[in-house]
Amino acid sequence: MPTAIKQVRDLAMEQPSSVRVFERFGIDYCCGGRKSLAQVCQEQQIPLADLLQGLAEAAHATPQMADPWTTASLEDLATYIVTACHGPTRLELERLTTLAFKVHHRHGATHPELARIQSLVHQILEEMTPHMEKEERVLFPYIVGLERADQSGSPKPYACFGDVANPIAAMMAEHDIVGSALTEINVLTSNYQLPDGACPTYHALYTTLAEFDALTRHHVELENSILFPRAIALSGKK
Ligand SMILES: [Fe+2]
Ligand SMILES: [Fe+2]
Repeated sequence: MPTAIKQVRDLAMEQPSSVRVFERFGIDYCCGGRKSLAQVCQEQQIPLADLLQGLAEAAHATPQMADPWTTASLEDLATYIVTACHGPTRLELERLTTLAFKVHHRHGATHPELARIQSLVHQILEEMTPHMEKEERVLFPYIVGLERADQSGSPKPYACFGDVANPIAAMMAEHDIVGSALTEINVLTSNYQLPDGACPTYHALYTTLAEFDALTRHHVELENSILFPRAIALSGKK
């Protein structure tokens, strides 16, 4: 049973069934989710008791597990990744592009590593934008179709790419490219340590980079360790 002081985002991560409840009440559980249930109810004039009841009912309907995404439906997991990871990734990459340009332009002469950081942010943007498009338009719908076919006992859906393991291998290779770029940024920034006298924009760049790093590692972990292996296992059943 969640309490009023629980953070929206934490609950969305721990209890997948809560995501549908938040959507029903119009509550942001992603970037704006770092608020307690009580705070968000007060801000949006939602009766706290109604929200808590909805969350409790959803939790009752879905047994809680140590790692719920290992047993939630693949459709729910794919929807969660698109909403909670892809959406914020697009927004943050747009912000990072602007911040990296500004900070490099203003401080590049005294901090030469900023040129490389700006270039790496651009590289991540160029990699992630088509990557997420391919997942959303092709791979995730196919995985959902695979799950539905399994549930209904129908034949596996046809795919021009052959077995689902093929596009998954390509997606994982792209994850590695982005992971390497983030690791290089981490090294260049000494784990996001600000230089003395850094201006607010410099501060915003490093804070956003650190948050983006955490978001991306969570995003990739959900796909590499849960969604993709489960999809491959499902495909192998037929
Ligand atoms: Fe993704
Ligand atoms: Fe991905």
